[in-house]
Amino acid sequence: MSKPTSLPRHHVARKASKRGCAALLAMVLGLASTLSSVAASAADASKATRSAPNLPGRPATPAEIAAWDTEVRADFKGLPKGSGSVADGQLVWDGKCASCHGSFGESNEVFTPIVGGTTPDDIKTGHVAALKPGGQQPHRTTLMKLATVSTLWDYIKRAMPWTAPKSLTDSEVYAVTAYILNLGDIVPADFTLSDKNIAEVQQRMPNRNGMVNQHGMWDIKGKPDVVSKACMQDCEADGQVRSTFPDAMRNAFGNLAQQHRNVGQTHGIDTSVPRAASAAGAAPASALASASAPAAAPKAAAAPAGMQLIKKNNCTACHGISNTVVGPAFTAIAAKYRNQAGAADAIMNKIRQGSTGAWGAIPMPPQAGASDTEIKAIVTWLLDGAKQ
Ligand code: HEC
Ligand code: HEC
Repeated sequence: MSKPTSLPRHHVARKASKRGCAALLAMVLGLASTLSSVAASAADASKATRSAPNLPGRPATPAEIAAWDTEVRADFKGLPKGSGSVADGQLVWDGKCASCHGSFGESNEVFTPIVGGTTPDDIKTGHVAALKPGGQQPHRTTLMKLATVSTLWDYIKRAMPWTAPKSLTDSEVYAVTAYILNLGDIVPADFTLSDKNIAEVQQRMPNRNGMVNQHGMWDIKGKPDVVSKACMQDCEADGQVRSTFPDAMRNAFGNLAQQHRNVGQTHGIDTSVPRAASAAGAAPASALASASAPAAAPKAAAAPAGMQLIKKNNCTACHGISNTVVGPAFTAIAAKYRNQAGAADAIMNKIRQGSTGAWGAIPMPPQAGASDTEIKAIVTWLLDGAKQ
């Protein structure tokens, strides 16, 4: 038995930047199922599309591609029809955004400031003066940097509110985008933003001419990567997995089945059991999705249910076990409420409805994603000392 001296990396031979979206997805899926060592059946391989690389995976399904393929381009391709007014946007903002980004988008706590630093003159020139050398704005805001209004719409649709991404309707996204634009004096207070007039709004974006491509993240043959040509269709993709995770290291980073994000369809496999066993029982994603439920959790070294649930519900985005992040450490909360009559009910309500003023000026938004059963289990774990 030889000890591995270093971890082999997943090396996939491919022609750099020569993949389309579908090929990339197929590749990711390919890698994922290599990890699960589910051998590719010949049938799968023959179903592969022309652009799918030669990997033991399967082509992405149309539904999987559609779930990813939502971006709104700078030319507004991908923008759904619809509209929303500044006034409606204020309601969305006050209810779902202001707790983190401030009433006027100033985000004076820890979050990214969205509005500020732009002038009527910038709207004329299309280049934010405060970004130029000698500019006095201490903190760059979203409206200062943003060249394309489509990006604002697209980002909010996909990523916000932070605690419940993708929960806004298209009308709400139009409305809250209009509200932000109004805060920046780009559109008037009685404006209704829609797919029909968004191109005109683009002509008023303060930094629309501020985007440059003379430099990039990387140099590709002396050219910045932003001017490199990317293949988007029928790309050559000769992918081959040259090495896989060695059996001895399978569970080195903890059980992958318990580490998947709670969005998306590709879940990690159960690495707590040997490869053969997990391949034989090759569980479908839906079965693994419930891996954090106590019944499916592997017996021995499983983390306490509370630990699993705070990860599953993304509480750990704001809370450390023993360190302050945005919110207080769970051990500090445990210490504060230890031996307090009625604490459990009070805390459960705070988690459901949000909390403010108990620990400082930053509020906790309502944790709508967690079920009552989950919240109860978390609070039991918490009042028991938040043990890891
Ligand atoms: C729980 C806190 C929270 C809430 C609520 C929230 N956001 Fe955010 N928002 C963030 C954080 C954190 C970031 C930065 C995320 C990152 O960089 O990955 C962010 C980033 C943004 C950005 C991009 C800023 C930039 O320049 O990169 C926009 C725009 C935005 N949020 C809009 C909204 C809107 C609109 C809502 C309401 C529908 C909302 N946010 C609700 C926390 C929040
Ligand atoms: C967006 C950041 C954020 C997220 C996500 C978050 N919290 Fe909080 N949490 C906070 C902040 C900030 C406070 C302090 C609020 C205050 O001062 O009242 C807090 C406070 C608490 C408190 C103490 C309440 C009190 O009255 O003392 C508990 C318990 C708690 N959070 C549990 C959770 C749980 C469980 C989750 C996941 C389901 C979660 N939090 C998700 C930011 C967050």
